Amino acid sequence: MKFLLGSLLLGLASASVSHAPILTGASVETPLTTFNLTTGANCACRTLSRTFSGVIFPRDTNYSAETVEAYWDVRTDLSPACVFLPETANEVAHAIKVLSSCDAQFAVRGGGHMCYPGSNNINGGVLMGLSKLNSYKVHSETIVVGPGMTWYDVYSALDPYGRAAVGGRLKTIGVPGLSLIGGWHYFNNKWGFAMDNVLSYDVVLGNGTQITVNKTQHSDLFWALKGGANNFGIVTKFTLKTFDVPKISTTIQAYNESGIPDFLEAVCHAAKLDEQDPIAAGMVASISYNVTTKAASASLLGVQEGTESPPSQFANFSAIPSTMKIDKVQTMKTWAQALDSPKQMFRVMYSHKTIKPDPQVLYMFYKIWKEAVDEISDVQGLYPTFVTNVHAPGASRVGKTNGVGNVWGLEAEPLILWQFSTGWALEQDDLRVQAWSRQLTEKLHAISVEKGLASDFIYMGDAGEWQDPFLGFPAENVLRMREIRSSYDPNGTFSRLNWGGFKLGV
Ligand SMILES: Cc1cc2nc3c(=O)[nH]c(=O)nc-3n(C[C@H](O)[C@H](O)[C@H](O)COP(=O)(O)OP(=O)(O)OC[C@H]3O[C@@H](n4cnc5c(N)ncnc54)[C@H](O)[C@@H]3O)c2cc1C
Ligand SMILES: *[C@@H]1O[C@H](CO)[C@@H](O)[C@H](O)[C@H]1NC(C)=O
Ligand SMILES: *[C@@H]1O[C@H](CO)[C@@H](O)[C@H](O)[C@H]1NC(C)=O
Ligand SMILES: *[C@@H]1O[C@H](CO)[C@@H](O)[C@H](O)[C@H]1NC(C)=O
Ligand SMILES: *[C@@H]1O[C@H](CO)[C@@H](O)[C@H](O)[C@H]1NC(C)=O
Ligand SMILES: *[C@@H]1O[C@H](CO)[C@@H](O)[C@H](O)[C@H]1NC(C)=O
Ligand SMILES: *[C@@H]1O[C@H](CO)[C@@H](O)[C@H](O)[C@H]1NC(C)=O
Ligand SMILES: *[C@@H]1O[C@H](CO)[C@@H](O)[C@H](O)[C@H]1NC(C)=O
Ligand SMILES: *[C@@H]1O[C@H](CO)[C@@H](O)[C@H](O)[C@H]1NC(C)=O
Repeated sequence: MKFLLGSLLLGLASASVSHAPILTGASVETPLTTFNLTTGANCACRTLSRTFSGVIFPRDTNYSAETVEAYWDVRTDLSPACVFLPETANEVAHAIKVLSSCDAQFAVRGGGHMCYPGSNNINGGVLMGLSKLNSYKVHSETIVVGPGMTWYDVYSALDPYGRAAVGGRLKTIGVPGLSLIGGWHYFNNKWGFAMDNVLSYDVVLGNGTQITVNKTQHSDLFWALKGGANNFGIVTKFTLKTFDVPKISTTIQAYNESGIPDFLEAVCHAAKLDEQDPIAAGMVASISYNVTTKAASASLLGVQEGTESPPSQFANFSAIPSTMKIDKVQTMKTWAQALDSPKQMFRVMYSHKTIKPDPQVLYMFYKIWKEAVDEISDVQGLYPTFVTNVHAPGASRVGKTNGVGNVWGLEAEPLILWQFSTGWALEQDDLRVQAWSRQLTEKLHAISVEKGLASDFIYMGDAGEWQDPFLGFPAENVLRMREIRSSYDPNGTFSRLNWGGFKLGV
């Protein structure tokens, strides 16, 4: 999760786009069987293009729109053998049967925001883009949405009704990826995570069968989809709970370096807030550091339900001398509209761990991070950000008391997810930035452990591909997810063929 305040305010230009060569003839050995990437993809692409007119091959003009421009992280631009854009759930189901019978490796893309190469795109295999599954229907207390929608699309659809959903905090994040991994939003403290507010999923299983999954039907899979990511099937429809939120009170604040200790203290207080009948409120809180000017600055994007302005839940932030402050009352739609995260802006590495709120320790982490950033200041296009995401007790109490739960099994306790979001320009620096980010993360986490402040929780939306979020979930939940996977996907379509992303493992 990262707010591009810099790009929003300064209009930074996009980094240059590099494009990997098309792979041919490579075969891949998996622990289960040996099969041929090219043979499988050729079979699937040929079969799909006999039935559907819209299959896109590398020679076609729309190829780069689907394999490059649709992605946030430049590292996730890859070169599939072909791209299929289904228009209905039946077409998804048909394609899954083809992919499975051809033994073709494939990737699935929703909003294209996951910064994990291979999670949402594939070299030499088949890419299924869900952008055309973008229809929706608004009901009085729910909205039914297709996986081709962004959160801005959802907020826009609900705008005329004065309602809002618990989704993404920025404009163009995809509905499917965020809902399947959890969903940090401004309203978590009151209504839980995005995953806790999905009432029904339509799912295409690995053998092409379509099922509706809800609290009473396939209730085991219903639970597993709440945080279990892309391990079980392709979701072709989500029914989301909506809430009466005609207006929100927002605040955008920026602080120079002198404000950072108080800023981190206010973040820690926000994580501890736990009222009986809370006001839904949350934020994006991040610190950026410019290696050229050596200037650090913090920024707050604060949102609370209702029209009270300035928003009371951010009073501790508002008391810090700021370099910028914009308070407004508006709708979720107009707020989200301004918070774009431009595609293809840079190569980017996320890394994160979780800690119990302690302002002194968090400030120490920030200072160590800043010094460490100086050590890689020669990396071209460096765009380092230190992000803090708040988990207030109320956020996990929802899952603990709604009779469904989720795979995280978190206690209702205050936590801070601290994250490095590091952007850069050139492929030559990929391994170096990853090594730097990983080593620094483990070093700081060791300090949390030593101080008795560490949590094992890792959020997929804030993690790097080198991290394994399943290690941080309760072991019995992971075992249960594996059992559920073997009963719904016995043939391993979503492990062996669709192998990218945060997977439960073979
Ligand atoms: C700029 C930025 C801001 C962010 N802000 C937030 C935030 O505010 N809150 C938050 O919680 N997270 C946030 N994130 C993290 C974000 O939730 C994840 O990156 C998420 O995966 C994005 O969903 P997507 O649909 O855009 O992703 P994609 O990259 O398209 O998909 C992510 C994964 O889900 C799989 N998938 C996609 N669609 C389906 C489907 N229909 N069925 C099954 N599997 C599917 C893909 O194969 C892939 O493995 C942010 C990320 C970025 C880059
Ligand atoms: C995979 O198949 C392709 C063509 O279908 C072939 O050229 C290649 O040699 C095969 N690779 C292996 C390792 O069998
Ligand atoms: C290519 O994209 C254009 C514009 O989005 C669209 O009109 C056209 O149908 C697309 N072609 C294919 C083959 O998908
Ligand atoms: C299971 O996978 C094999 C290939 O490994 C494939 O031939 C078969 O059709 C698949 N079965 C089902 C039910 O999808
Ligand atoms: C679950 O879905 C089935 C089939 O669509 C429906 O009959 C049932 O009422 C649903 N249950 C809930 C709790 O929505
Ligand atoms: C503001 O800070 C005080 C301590 O100085 C704390 O008690 C209070 O809960 C905080 N309020 C909010 C809204 O975070
Ligand atoms: C930081 O910002 C505050 C508030 O605008 C200002 O009073 C202070 O002088 C600034 N400090 C520096 C070092 O720029
Ligand atoms: C850092 O500051 C320099 C000089 O003002 C500017 O050119 C550059 O874009 C800034 N870098 C980032 C990552 O904001
Ligand atoms: C598809 O898989 C599901 C889950 O394993 C199973 O219940 C169903 O019978 C399968 N359908 C077919 C047609 O094989």
